[in-house]
Amino acid sequence: MGSVEHTNGTAPQLNGSIQHNAGSDLFRLNDRTVVGEHTSKHQTAYTLTAAVTGGLGSLGVSLAQTLLEYGADVVCTDLPEAPQDEIWLTLKKVADSTGGQLRYVSCDVTNEDSVSRAFESAESGSRYPIRGLVTCAGISGRCPAVDYPVDKFRRIMDINVTGTFLCATAAARVMQRQMVSGSIVMLASMSATNVNQLARSLAAEWGNDGAHPPIRVNTYSPG
Ligand SMILES: NC(=O)c1ccc[n+]([C@@H]2O[C@H](COP(=O)([O-])OP(=O)(O)OC[C@H]3O[C@@H](n4cnc5c(N)ncnc54)[C@H](O)[C@@H]3O)[C@@H](O)[C@H]2O)c1
Repeated sequence: MGSVEHTNGTAPQLNGSIQHNAGSDLFRLNDRTVVGEHTSKHQTAYTLTAAVTGGLGSLGVSLAQTLLEYGADVVCTDLPEAPQDEIWLTLKKVADSTGGQLRYVSCDVTNEDSVSRAFESAESGSRYPIRGLVTCAGISGRCPAVDYPVDKFRRIMDINVTGTFLCATAAARVMQRQMVSGSIVMLASMSATNVNQLARSLAAEWGNDGAHPPIRVNTYSPG
């Protein structure tokens, strides 16, 4: 069973695997909906862009598709310089049918410069403000704990925790500069405790800082 941690705003429900009808809940911002209700297929376009890290992975592609279907423009980021044709064609077809803008920006979430460049590029090439971020970039490892190599453990922390922090802060900087409210949804899987605590801390700071529109921060834990 998957779960969603609620850090501020209205509590969304996400049970089991990622479901299409979870899209509007993940991005609901108190009474204001960042991504609209999915009342009909290929509903009206909403004037926002959402970034998806790990956007060429299985969760990233699925969530990018959901966001497009809910009417958002989407910027996928991932490690390769360019997206693989097969995955991209599938997403492109969805974007074409919804009228959404779909773009790809290469990014290593563990590298601060790479993350900054990626969000600058995402912001400058988008027709609407970036108001959503879903972090899906992550790795896991299967190995008895007593034999687990420390380098691998450090790598997991670097990608899953530090990478999530770097992307969330880069997205928040853009939202705060543009004075728009937003919603950040972080994958909390192998490093759930760290990411959940990070989300609580960021939500407390960005949910109502008095100087900027609120940014909601939640986590989700699939599987
Ligand atoms: N798919 C599930 O049902 C499920 C369930 C539980 C946990 N998880 C965890 O969620 C995460 C994503 O799952 P997935 O199935 O989409 O995995 P995936 O391997 O299909 O996708 C992960 C993506 O993250 C990208 N990535 C890795 N390192 C990166 C870096 N340094 N910078 C930028 N991108 C990077 C990869 O290139 C890949 O495209 C993984 O950590 C996985 O362990 C997934």
